[in-house]
Amino acid sequence: MNKNEISLLTGLINRRRSIRKYTPEIPPAGWIKSMIHCAARAPSPSNSRPVRFVRIISEKIREDINMAMEKGRKRFLEAVEGLEGQKKLKNRINAYFRFSQFMFDAPILFAVGTVLSRSGFSERLFDAGILKRHDREDTDLDITVGLALKGFLLRGEELGLGACILTAPLVFIPDIEEVAGIKDISIKCFVTAGFPHEKPGFIERICADDILIEA
Ligand SMILES: Cc1cc2nc3c(=O)[nH]c(=O)nc-3n(C[C@H](O)[C@H](O)[C@H](O)COP(=O)(O)O)c2cc1C
Repeated sequence: MNKNEISLLTGLINRRRSIRKYTPEIPPAGWIKSMIHCAARAPSPSNSRPVRFVRIISEKIREDINMAMEKGRKRFLEAVEGLEGQKKLKNRINAYFRFSQFMFDAPILFAVGTVLSRSGFSERLFDAGILKRHDREDTDLDITVGLALKGFLLRGEELGLGACILTAPLVFIPDIEEVAGIKDISIKCFVTAGFPHEKPGFIERICADDILIEA
């Protein structure tokens, strides 16, 4: 890899922002496919390649998810009624609800998850009774989804497409797989994509020295 390639990648990483407003134009199918291709190239435990991108095309499924979110919000608002600090909690519930709504207007919407498998290293030791807990398996899957998403986002940035990861909707809809009719995949997040229709403002960043700890 030469110097230019490295600076191109660094430029993409530095430029990328979460985009929540899109023009109505649908990006070319080939562009989306190339973003998925970059996601598919992510490393995974034992090369298990568990990540799946479920494209939500059906208007009915979008509507069902939207309705389930509204129900989730109502349920939370009712549950905090009368609690100490209810005003703050209600504001928070409404804020996270608002920070989820844009996904229903996004030209491209994916639910991203992992296939249900019991083939991980820790899972095998657990099955054999050697390990007491096997929550490492979840960590592995979460890391793998994150790596896949990074490829997806950076390829999008390279193409001039915006994207945003969302997990807040899953707090409102714990049974998302059932609501969306998704079988054998555990959904970890949503991700939107499209042509940007906003320029996000300043955001605080940390630098290498802030996250580098020597032990
Ligand atoms: C795991 C994860 C979950 C996120 N969930 C949401 C969300 O539910 N709604 C939202 O608007 N943004 C969500 N974001 C986007 C973050 O708010 C955003 O990445 C952060 O504010 C930094 O801004 P930037 O992406 O522009 O650098 C999420 C990001 C990650 C990595």
